[in-house]
Amino acid sequence: MTHKVALLAGDGIGPEIVGVATTVLMALRDRFGLAIETEAAPMGGAGIDASGDPLPAATLALAERSDAILLGAVGGPKWDKIERARRPERGLLRLRASLDLFCNLRPAILYPALREASTLKPEVVSGLDLMIVRELTGDIYFGQPRGIEINANQEREGRNTLVYTESEIRRIAHAAFKLARQRQRKLCSVDKANVLEATELWRDVVTEVSREYADVALSHMYVDNAAMQLVRAPKQFDVMVTTNMFGDILSDLASMLTGSIGMLPSASLNAKNQGMYEPIHGSAPDIAGKDIANPLATILSVAMMLRHSLNEESHAVRVEAAVSSVLEAGYRTADIQSLGTQLLGTREMGRRVVEALN
Ligand code: IPM
Ligand code: MG
Repeated sequence: MTHKVALLAGDGIGPEIVGVATTVLMALRDRFGLAIETEAAPMGGAGIDASGDPLPAATLALAERSDAILLGAVGGPKWDKIERARRPERGLLRLRASLDLFCNLRPAILYPALREASTLKPEVVSGLDLMIVRELTGDIYFGQPRGIEINANQEREGRNTLVYTESEIRRIAHAAFKLARQRQRKLCSVDKANVLEATELWRDVVTEVSREYADVALSHMYVDNAAMQLVRAPKQFDVMVTTNMFGDILSDLASMLTGSIGMLPSASLNAKNQGMYEPIHGSAPDIAGKDIANPLATILSVAMMLRHSLNEESHAVRVEAAVSSVLEAGYRTADIQSLGTQLLGTREMGRRVVEALN
């Protein structure tokens, strides 16, 4: 069976990093027999430019019939003035919702070679291996009502709604507990139950689900404390599970523990393990087209794709080992550069990873 992968490069640095990640996939096919075929489609600003829609119908159809999707990044100043509902980011949210990709995995792993690249002291971060499980299709990102209106006092009033149903919480909790079981069996659920009712429900439901996982140690933490603890002593965490918005924020924070946001991949899965894979960073329009972006988060997203959606664990390990060895050899993109390392551009970094596959 040939795996079908949709390539949605998107905007800004998206085409560069997806281009490089594709060379890794092609090397796996040509040198190691991975049965894979790819098809590209426009998404985000590129979708708007191509057909007036950040998620063109043909792109969604391709995504739906693919086993996995590799996405670069979407958005940029060119499209910021467009009517809100048609902006690039909304296309991404629609894609997540359309495929029901509720389970977002964001691993924060510090590669030993990058100990010096983190802004935190090496002893605080060395050995870090944390998995953030972010709920991805609910919360204030999707809740209704939403919008900006003129209120009775004739001033503008903005509104978003934080809403979670019991079943939405239950399914992400199950996913997080199952994952914790394959790791250190520690799960920390992050909420703001002292203030927000929707997350009080979150805490209650996660606690109920925990009864089915007696072998996993569950703890709860308020999100403000969790942000502080992530910087103070990140190695206390194994798996964290949290809401869509808190997960968005905490995963950016966690990325800096690993040296650079340019290092963090992600997987967004539905109940069938169909998934979308993307670096957690944005489209970085300021450095687009300069061949300086770090492609490793996207390459590591390919590894997650091989593992979680394509059931190709040995290829996943092959890609991760190649990234590791390139870092050990001292090659760096600008965002992770430190004294005594060798600076490479986006394409050259990709070429080194391909060369290191074995
Ligand atoms: C992310 C991004 C997105 C999000 C944006 C681009 C809509 O920040 O994947 O973390 O907020 O989910
Ligand atoms: Mg984010």
